[in-house]
Amino acid sequence: MTSDLRPEAFRALRRGRFGDPYLYVPECRSTQELLRDTALPEGAVAVAEHQTAGRGRLGRTWEDAPRSSLLCSVLLRPGSGVLPQLSLVAALATAEAVEELTGREAQVKWPNDVLVDGRKVAGILLEQAGGAVVAGIGVNVGQERGELPEVTRTPAGSLRTASGRGYDRGVLLAELLVRLEGGYDSWAARGLAALRPSLEARNALGGVRVQVGDVGGVAGSIAPGGGLEIVVPSGGTVVVESGEVEVAGSVDVDE
Ligand code: BTN
Repeated sequence: MTSDLRPEAFRALRRGRFGDPYLYVPECRSTQELLRDTALPEGAVAVAEHQTAGRGRLGRTWEDAPRSSLLCSVLLRPGSGVLPQLSLVAALATAEAVEELTGREAQVKWPNDVLVDGRKVAGILLEQAGGAVVAGIGVNVGQERGELPEVTRTPAGSLRTASGRGYDRGVLLAELLVRLEGGYDSWAARGLAALRPSLEARNALGGVRVQVGDVGGVAGSIAPGGGLEIVVPSGGTVVVESGEVEVAGSVDVDE
């Protein structure tokens, strides 16, 4: 299995406006730091084979085994709009690309994770950079079980552990960028409503007991504004707009 992210290989795979310009480095601290140049256009992409200080959400680190992951950042200039929704736009694009390549169902775990068989195979990190947004996407592609972090809130997986084979990261990146561009354009034109059916079909948390901050209950749909609906014990529904989801278990159908 070739897995080539170098510019000459990616140039032949790119199908849309995202990915131009394409900044490729064998190693960096974080691809998020490569898109700070304010003159770069929307759709600029930075990719590395390995990060020495990869960043996750909420101040966590993002570990990779060199050449096993897709580590990319995409520069977006959304202007106005609800920025936390972009996390869902990117997660959906990633889930769709994973499905396209692997033929396995992928789910979006609100607000930013992509799961296959309950294991986290990808995460999204949004950061503001001046007036722009840098969307960082990390996908575990070729790692064997023993190469994945052992202690994570959601068990970690890779496309290889999910499907038993390797994938070309350049092909995955090209698919992901096409999906992201399409989803982003739809979102910019019509808001999250344009993506809600696809998101809801992949909602990993529907019917699951969760705790988000001080709100506990059974998760329902992703709300029109991008928050998570939680049915609380009193029977009412609370929408949480951000936070860390603690999963307490799924709900029996007879309950
Ligand atoms: C998370 O699940 O907490 C988000 C992880 C985001 C990781 C990606 S890898 C490419 C980009 N560069 C980083 O340092 N982080 C993001």
